[in-house]
Amino acid sequence: MSRAHNFSAGPAVLPVPVIEALRGSLLEFGGAQAGIMEISHRSTDFGEVIDAAKTRLRRIMEIPDDHSVLFLQGGASLQFYMSALNIARPTDAIDYICTGNWSKKAVQEAGRVCDAANVWSSADTAFDHVPAPDEAIEYRPDSIAVHYTSNNTVAGTQLAAAPNTDRPLIADLSSDICSRRIDVARHAVIYAGAQKNLGPSGVTAVILSPWAVERSRASDAARQGGIPSMLSYDLMVQKGSMFNTPNTFGIFALERVLAWVEEQGGLDYFAERSRRRAAQVYAKLDASDFWRPRARPGSRSDMNIAWRIHDQSLESTFVSEAREAGLLALKGHRSMGGIRASLYNALPDDAVAALVEFLTDFEKRHG
Ligand SMILES: Cc1ncc(COP(=O)(O)O)c(C=O)c1O
Repeated sequence: MSRAHNFSAGPAVLPVPVIEALRGSLLEFGGAQAGIMEISHRSTDFGEVIDAAKTRLRRIMEIPDDHSVLFLQGGASLQFYMSALNIARPTDAIDYICTGNWSKKAVQEAGRVCDAANVWSSADTAFDHVPAPDEAIEYRPDSIAVHYTSNNTVAGTQLAAAPNTDRPLIADLSSDICSRRIDVARHAVIYAGAQKNLGPSGVTAVILSPWAVERSRASDAARQGGIPSMLSYDLMVQKGSMFNTPNTFGIFALERVLAWVEEQGGLDYFAERSRRRAAQVYAKLDASDFWRPRARPGSRSDMNIAWRIHDQSLESTFVSEAREAGLLALKGHRSMGGIRASLYNALPDDAVAALVEFLTDFEKRHG
């Protein structure tokens, strides 16, 4: 096999046993006498797949029984809009914690359908930090919910814990879902595009509290013409994510990834492993002035590590030499430049070891 070490920020590396299972399902799936992509979403075979995916996600994340689990399309980008549309009536306020370019997009989209405003932002310092766990944030007195981005894929920062507030939380968990425990019960809405820790692109996991579903009904009643069917949480819950044809193959892949997550030891296993692996890379980056990690200590992400080289003209050489050495996709996001390594769950440990070795070697040659 000539698979290289893949540090892509998403779509990202998948576990090899999962890819093999997917390959096996393409021609013939179970007893269906047809491949997984060729059977009805209303079939018993697919019904078992989507039920298993929900059950596994519930078990892994310890989702309370009264919360709903959906598998939708449109990516996290649609959830920026859809979460606000469903939770808020047009005059209701939602507070946003702005920790990166995805948070910026979230508040922008929400502003189309409710009173959405940032109450905290690190935009002035190029998103190099996130609020500390005990930081007092001044929420607006009348806001009904608080939105945050748990992990900032581009800037390489991550909140240590959910914001410290009694208000219902809306969380974008796209780039760190299933990498550590979170208290699901404190959240009204959790959403995550699958293409980092859960599977291929084209599926978005959405978790809703009973309050969120109730609010969806209230918002539908308050809006002229109601909420469009495809954007209604309430309708999607009633229809079990199957108001229309879902991404059947993507949901099967996600179910296989979740089975793999459980086999490996679940969230405690991945949390400890992510912490340890990221620490190895940060230790290397902190050891000399050659490297310039972007995120302040205390705000650093275990999933996406973003840095610059003190001599920025070396960065393109770094990326191309890394590629030649079998380390893929280390170029920073196009909005920020620099270098970024994504260490998602499916990235094997030897990829991290190879990265650290490459950093050492590169610094020796160019330092
Ligand atoms: C934290 C975060 N939110 C939202 C998005 C946008 O996701 P999508 O492309 O699925 O809409 C991304 C994509 O990388 C992301 O990392």
